[in-house]
Amino acid sequence: MQQRHIAWLLILGFFMATSVQAQDDVFAGKGRCMTCHKATSPGLYRQWLGSKHSTMSVTCYDCHRADKDDPDAFKHGDFYIATLVTPKDCARCHPTEVGQVKISLHATAGDILETPDSYMVNVIGGLPAMIAGCESCHGNRIKIDPKSPNKLARESWPNSGIGRINPDGSKGSCNACHSRHSFSKAQARRPETCGKCHLGPDHPQKEIYEESKHGIAFFTHQDQMHLDSDRWVVGEDYFEAPTCVTCHMGATKQQAATHDVGQRLSWTLRPAISEHKADWQKKRGNMKDVCQACHGKDFVEGHFYQFDGVVNLYDEKFAKPATQIMDLLRQSGKMEHNAEFSNDIEWIYWELWHHEGRRARHGAAMMGPDFTWWKGMYEVAKNFYFKFLPAAKAYNDPAVNRYIDNMLKNDPMHDWMDKSPEELKQKMQSGELENIYRELFKETRATHAPNNH
Ligand code: HEC
Ligand code: HEC
Ligand code: HEC
Ligand code: HEC
Ligand code: HEC
Ligand code: HEC
Ligand code: HEC
Ligand code: HEC
Repeated sequence: MQQRHIAWLLILGFFMATSVQAQDDVFAGKGRCMTCHKATSPGLYRQWLGSKHSTMSVTCYDCHRADKDDPDAFKHGDFYIATLVTPKDCARCHPTEVGQVKISLHATAGDILETPDSYMVNVIGGLPAMIAGCESCHGNRIKIDPKSPNKLARESWPNSGIGRINPDGSKGSCNACHSRHSFSKAQARRPETCGKCHLGPDHPQKEIYEESKHGIAFFTHQDQMHLDSDRWVVGEDYFEAPTCVTCHMGATKQQAATHDVGQRLSWTLRPAISEHKADWQKKRGNMKDVCQACHGKDFVEGHFYQFDGVVNLYDEKFAKPATQIMDLLRQSGKMEHNAEFSNDIEWIYWELWHHEGRRARHGAAMMGPDFTWWKGMYEVAKNFYFKFLPAAKAYNDPAVNRYIDNMLKNDPMHDWMDKSPEELKQKMQSGELENIYRELFKETRATHAPNNH
């Protein structure tokens, strides 16, 4: 019994060895890259060997080849190659995917240098944190080492940020999702792939997904998800659960898969005050089409009704007044220091929208009730009433005080602090509050705050 096994293993080993040898010969004209690299970097070589690319005879040189004049080209043996393999290189064989990435927000994620976040890390944090933090998610500008013309500068490489700006002018790095050298579709479809970047206090999509019914179903049934299938149409090739890719990129019976992750979003939930995107009804329709592979129409409509209600609540009740108060404070000239983020209230306001307010909106979008409330709106409300408003009042500016007093007295959503328990009970029973909140479910809302941003 045991001997038969060993015999089989020997035969199998022989075939594997001869097929590798055969490949080396076939690729001799392409630089014999493997001959050396299977010894110098065996792990990398084995990843490639097991990949679809290897099956299809796409070799090291097919991806790494470069023109002599490319800014990052160097001579390696008899060949000019580059270490970077950018979207421009992949485009030789995958023009469709590259075109879709190009028009997506992912491609411009490296353009963050002019934003307050970036100011924060550069001035208040420091450059090493910018490089190993922000730029490792967003992407950086890859530079050539000035001292050694063919080498990539260490401060800019390694980097696989999603919006990397490459020496050849192209934007992005495909291996942000398609880890080299296996370039496995199965890996790209898993939520962990997106979760390298989409997590944490300011955009916890991964944590929200994990606590949602969808995440629970995915982790329970992942073996039935056919993640490595060539075709991956929701409702046909798999049906147990949606992943991030299903909702944001994946194919349905009506829609082809897309690398433009903005095609199915109706809101932008990132800014202080949410805005609808251009063409938002169409994009909402694209998303609903995904849901309907597994859910009934009314169920799906109900979800979006509830989600829009939370976005409007956050915007109208908290974000617009807080933003208005910040504007008035800046106009008052009473901020102690000039530099951004040099006053406590700027950090308080920042966390209100950039952390707590985003968590509430993202939680409601993706079915994470704990994020919608405890890590979201609960924190927003606590911050607004007990940190933000007191900090604003401390400046003792007449215009600011007038705004706050008027809001707390005359806006029925905010008129609760100095009421007696009996008065509040009556307010709730009369249905007055409920009617105000119901207005927030309307698709096109009336502007509530005095100044609409
Ligand atoms: C004669 C042996 C040999 C051959 C043939 C060879 N390499 Fe290399 N290669 C090396 C060694 C040694 C290094 C440096 C050690 C390392 O990075 O593992 C290296 C480094 C590299 C690097 C990394 C450079 C960097 O920026 O750090 C790349 C990319 C590379 N080789 C690709 C290729 C490609 C593509 C081919 C085929 C055209 C090839 N190699 C052929 C031996 C070889
Ligand atoms: C499908 C295209 C593709 C093929 C085929 C390919 N590579 Fe790469 N390789 C990449 C990408 C993408 C990167 C990451 C560079 C970047 O971020 O731009 C990379 C990076 C590298 C690096 C530097 C990074 C590191 O981890 O050290 C080496 C060395 C390398 N490849 C060698 C090889 C060798 C040897 C082969 C053949 C066995 C090969 N590559 C085949 C796409 C490819
Ligand atoms: C010389 C042509 C060529 C280049 C360059 C190339 N590929 Fe491919 N790639 C192929 C072929 C052929 C296949 C297999 C057919 C298919 O699935 O489309 C493939 C398949 C793939 C797949 C699907 C793998 C799977 O599991 O089914 C991914 C992902 C991929 N390539 C990504 C990339 C990325 C990213 C780059 C650039 C870093 C790249 N390719 C560069 C030819 C190429
Ligand atoms: C863990 C990865 C990660 C790190 C680290 C990170 N970001 Fe982000 N950032 C993201 C993701 C993901 C988004 C998009 C979130 C969303 O759409 O909800 C984002 C969004 C942004 C936005 C909003 C852009 C817009 O279109 O509204 C800015 C600006 C930004 N980040 C700047 C920075 C800066 C500057 C740093 C460092 C101080 C940083 N980020 C650190 C992943 C990261
Ligand atoms: C945000 C993550 C992400 C990025 C960035 C990304 N891809 Fe993909 N890619 C995926 C996912 C997920 C799939 C599988 C889609 C599916 O079948 O549902 C995929 C599939 C592919 C396929 C296989 C298509 C097929 O029909 O079999 C190719 C080829 C590919 N990507 C190339 C690229 C190239 C080239 C880039 C860079 C320009 C890139 N991808 C960037 C996530 C990504
Ligand atoms: C390497 C980091 C990184 C990875 C991996 C990544 N993203 Fe992103 N994503 C970002 C950043 C950064 C932004 C925000 C860009 C900006 O605002 O400029 C973003 C934005 C988005 C957006 C908002 C698009 C829009 O038009 O508003 C969606 C949706 C998205 N990503 C989905 C995904 C999915 C799904 C995956 C996994 C298949 C994924 N991302 C993988 C970094 C990443
Ligand atoms: C069941 C479908 C579904 C799943 C699964 C899902 N999302 Fe979403 N996602 C949505 C919906 C719906 C929205 C809001 C769409 C809108 O604006 O109308 C959204 C919004 C987003 C946004 C935009 C946030 C912004 O600030 O504007 C990002 C980024 C995102 N999702 C990433 C992810 C990531 C990463 C995962 C996996 C960890 C994931 N999503 C899982 C449905 C899903
Ligand atoms: C691949 C199938 C699939 C897709 C696609 C899908 N869902 Fe689900 N969804 C499920 C499953 C399974 C459950 C768990 C059902 C249960 O609780 O009995 C679920 C549950 C839900 C719930 C209930 C959450 C809770 O905690 O009770 C909501 C709401 C929901 N989905 C909305 C959506 C929306 C909106 C979309 C599209 C953006 C979507 N789903 C896409 C399979 C899917």
